[in-house]
Amino acid sequence: MSAKPAARFTICPVADADREQAEQIITERWGAPVVAVHDTLYRPAELPGFLAKAGAHILGLLTYRIETNACEIVSLDALQPRAGIGTALVEAAAGAARARLIKPSIPEVGDFGIPIHDELELERFL
Ligand SMILES: CC(C)(COP(=O)(O)OP(=O)(O)OC[C@H]1O[C@@H](n2cnc3c(N)ncnc32)[C@H](O)[C@@H]1OP(=O)(O)O)[C@@H](O)C(=O)NCCC(=O)NCCS
Repeated sequence: MSAKPAARFTICPVADADREQAEQIITERWGAPVVAVHDTLYRPAELPGFLAKAGAHILGLLTYRIETNACEIVSLDALQPRAGIGTALVEAAAGAARARLIKPSIPEVGDFGIPIHDELELERFL
């Protein structure tokens, strides 16, 4: 069994200061600053996303959009392949999506007039 190369990158959310470089990456990798997903055009550099960085050097970019209770990855690029960057970016997006899920409001009194003191939070993998 061969081990993956040691991870030498950090994952951080795309900041406004990163957007110009994100647009360059998308243009280089996909031929244009826009991508088509399900017949809709998106400008990934303007979407929320995550970067894999080694120092100031960008090694990967994921952008996503949230719709109701789903998270759709719009673009995913690992500039250094097979080093775990794609996996780490997807994990970061899944974490962000879970945090954004809207929890239904819990009534103070449940069936048969029984007060609800505790709630159970269910989570599913995206
Ligand atoms: C797809 C992509 C993001 C994968 O990123 P990556 O950082 O190389 O992937 P990881 O190192 O995290 O590997 C994830 C898994 O995919 C496997 N994998 C990665 N590239 C592979 C390849 N070319 N062939 C077969 N398996 C591959 C890895 O072995 C790993 O499997 P494991 O978890 O069982 O070990 C990257 O190849 C890429 O940028 N491709 C071009 C753009 C693209 O197609 N983006 C997706 C659509 S938007």
